[in-house]
Amino acid sequence: MLPYPDLIDEFLSKVMPKIPGKLSIKCRLGRTEAGEIFRFMPVFNRYPLEEVIIHPRTGIQMYEGKTDPDTFEKCLELSVNPLVYNGDIKSPDDFFSLSRRFQTIESWMIGRGALINPFLPGMIKNENDAISDKVNKIQGFHEALFKRYTDAMNGPAHVIDRMKGIWNYLSNAFENSRFIFKKIKKVRSIRKYKQIVADFFDHEPELKGIENGKLH
Ligand SMILES: Cc1cc2nc3c(=O)[nH]c(=O)nc-3n(C[C@H](O)[C@H](O)[C@H](O)COP(=O)(O)O)c2cc1C
Repeated sequence: MLPYPDLIDEFLSKVMPKIPGKLSIKCRLGRTEAGEIFRFMPVFNRYPLEEVIIHPRTGIQMYEGKTDPDTFEKCLELSVNPLVYNGDIKSPDDFFSLSRRFQTIESWMIGRGALINPFLPGMIKNENDAISDKVNKIQGFHEALFKRYTDAMNGPAHVIDRMKGIWNYLSNAFENSRFIFKKIKKVRSIRKYKQIVADFFDHEPELKGIENGKLH
């Protein structure tokens, strides 16, 4: 919808009066060009949105190329609604340099960085990496997640698909990351999945070290 501000307006004018809760919007800077946001931001400004979460890339960029914090900065001046910054926060250093630059931003969204390193939000909050027993904690997190997906999802194929999605990122926290992910990618049954994961954790996998705030 990003290239069509009128459509966004029409949608919000119908939806906003009818929803009981609050509404947040997550968007990119545009579909094909970063400047598109200057056409739809005035539309957002007409509505009391809880938050506008901006991933400062264009849609066609997918996840390639650089984020565009300069355009995000211009949005900060324009938006009457609170903005949230999202995109490429993969280390405490990434976060601290952005938070120094955007001092009025109170909320941040982290996606892939937290999927790869589930300790990242804690490292940022505590301003250090003093977390003990990380592999055990990841194992416990994995088990809890697996159980919740098993309870919530309709059948083993869906659970396995979700867990493959998780491992696509989480495996990168470990040395030899591609090795475990390659094995998990081929799995088709829960029994086999559990066996591979148990075997992986039984062999005391090594976490990648952190250098300059980033996983090496
Ligand atoms: C596996 C995956 C699934 C995603 N699904 C959604 C989604 O359903 N809705 C959405 O708005 N963004 C989705 N995103 C985009 C993220 O919310 C986020 O905007 C993007 O990954 C940039 O943040 P990051 O660099 O911290 O990952 C997804 C991203 C990934 C990697």
